[in-house]
Amino acid sequence: MKPIGVFDSGYGGLTVFKSIAARMPQYDYIYLGDNGRAPYGNRSFETVHQYTLECVEWFFKQGCELVILACNTASAKALRTIQQQDLPRIDTNKRVLGVIRPTAEVIGEYTTSRSVGVLGTRGTILSRSYEIEINNFFPDIMVHPQACPMWVPIVEYGEYESEGADYFVKQYLDELLTSAPGIDTVLLACTHYPLLMDKIKKHLPTNINVIAQGDIVANSLERYLEKHTELSGMLSSGGNRQFYTTDDAADFNRHASIFYGEEVQAQYLHL
Ligand code: DGL
Repeated sequence: MKPIGVFDSGYGGLTVFKSIAARMPQYDYIYLGDNGRAPYGNRSFETVHQYTLECVEWFFKQGCELVILACNTASAKALRTIQQQDLPRIDTNKRVLGVIRPTAEVIGEYTTSRSVGVLGTRGTILSRSYEIEINNFFPDIMVHPQACPMWVPIVEYGEYESEGADYFVKQYLDELLTSAPGIDTVLLACTHYPLLMDKIKKHLPTNINVIAQGDIVANSLERYLEKHTELSGMLSSGGNRQFYTTDDAADFNRHASIFYGEEVQAQYLHL
């Protein structure tokens, strides 16, 4: 088996995996959620790198040639070091890709006012990765970052439909709208946030687009694999999906179907 590895600190990456698997059902996939050590959002660069690298090395041992970091925090804080320092040492043929660049590449298609709000974990926002990547592709776009540190815990604890969630959704959106009244697009730069989509739309003016990353990342990966036939030709195509978690598997299964849209049977992984 040469499956595609899909990684997140927890459940959030399942929102991206769902889009990837729907777009390219033929491939084999392994999903790993590092729930035992989630959330990553407030952790240091060193810690996020160390945790992410351990998971990436595990994927390589499972036969993965390609790993997608379906987590903005890991993409912001670990991807560059993995690509530039770790892969040359481990295996130059392996590929690890993130979710920030594919999103930054297309954000210009969504905004007319050229003023975009980016919602993410504290780690993603402090890394400034979105400002840098978006302005590489679209120097005319003003990026307005907003950290939303309570949203991942709300989602991870299954409280995303509660009144408490409304309170914290409104709080961060009000902060964003006060600091950036001209935005016409809001990017959900955290793979957990699509679970809060209804509440986010409820607390934003209707003329603001709200963008989730799943389909954008799936589309970009499909184009990448079309271009890199030396890689896509190696991937196995049995349509298998395996799920692993570094925390309780039964608990993972209970939550995961909400993110993935189907029942899953995860296995516990001791790293
Ligand atoms: N889902 C992750 C992201 O996209 C964040 C979750 C976490 O803080 O661990 O940033």
